[in-house]
Amino acid sequence: MTGRNVTEVSKRIENATNGLRMRRLRQADWSRRLVRENHLRPEDLIWPIFVKDGNEAEPVASMPGVSRQSIAGCVDAAKHAADLGIPVIALFPYTDPALRDETGSQALNPDNLVCRTARAIKKAVPEIGIMCDAALDPYTSHGHDGVMDGERILNDESVELLMQQSVIQAEAGADIIGPSDMMDGRVACIRSALDDAGLRDTLIMAYSAKYASAFYGPFRDAVGSNAMLKGDKRTYQMDFGNVDEAIREAEQDVAEGADMIMVKPGLAYLDVLSRITQTLNVPTFAYQTSGEYAMIMAASQNGWIDGDKAIVEVLTAYKRAGASGILSYFAPKIAAELKAV
Ligand code: PBG
Repeated sequence: MTGRNVTEVSKRIENATNGLRMRRLRQADWSRRLVRENHLRPEDLIWPIFVKDGNEAEPVASMPGVSRQSIAGCVDAAKHAADLGIPVIALFPYTDPALRDETGSQALNPDNLVCRTARAIKKAVPEIGIMCDAALDPYTSHGHDGVMDGERILNDESVELLMQQSVIQAEAGADIIGPSDMMDGRVACIRSALDDAGLRDTLIMAYSAKYASAFYGPFRDAVGSNAMLKGDKRTYQMDFGNVDEAIREAEQDVAEGADMIMVKPGLAYLDVLSRITQTLNVPTFAYQTSGEYAMIMAASQNGWIDGDKAIVEVLTAYKRAGASGILSYFAPKIAAELKAV
């Protein structure tokens, strides 16, 4: 190409663009940093942790790099998270199959694993926020989030148990209750149960738009409910074809008293997150689920994608879509990287 032709092209470009060249802002690291619109911070992250009985940590096969931790291990993890500036950890118990039953009665045991862990963390690391799920699936012998009559998941009977579970967990030290069960009316009932127990400061982060998803598989391995699960959760978790319904769920949960809401899974539902955050002015979180974690790790371990880069890209995309924060198994890794720069 001759210089004359380039000059000609340049003229055309000046004419067409009115002199606006978008690449000017991208030319250097400093200029890209200067105009970046969305940032990840350690404060954006909630770290989900799996807890087990006994002293040994146990790797979760479908989540490379993630283990079920002993209570002492969870206390160490909480200290580590606090040092990194992560504001909240979310606790999920692995329950021995022998302790599971039809009604998930371990959920109502004030000395169950998750309550003992919350108490230990509260004592050792009082500055970190603790979140606990309201749902029965870690405790039921059928792996569902509520109680059943034959094939049916009973709504109101389940809510009655979730109210008690929430109070027990809050009394043990949970600062945030995360109803992840998708029963109707549970947020209002849990709020009033907490208030009646004098737990007015306990927050509720409602899993509002929680879809029936294939991306929860590794989590169910981690809490031990995958092998037990009878059927699927489509009579209570949402249909992945819907988005208006997610707005209605979110509005309803806010009306019932949710302080914060959540969209789950995240990556395949960023449109839902974006719609909700543009419609409602409520802190809205997204859950980067176990299946999303596993996908990135598998591709990365095979050398098919650059995992480190993919993680930051995806988590920043959550922020771009409007998330106030993200529940992510990558939380400590990313917070450490952010701290180092
Ligand atoms: C329990 C619950 C699930 C997850 C969080 N809480 C699984 C499910 O609903 O089956 C999934 C989290 C993940 O996949 O990382 N109700």
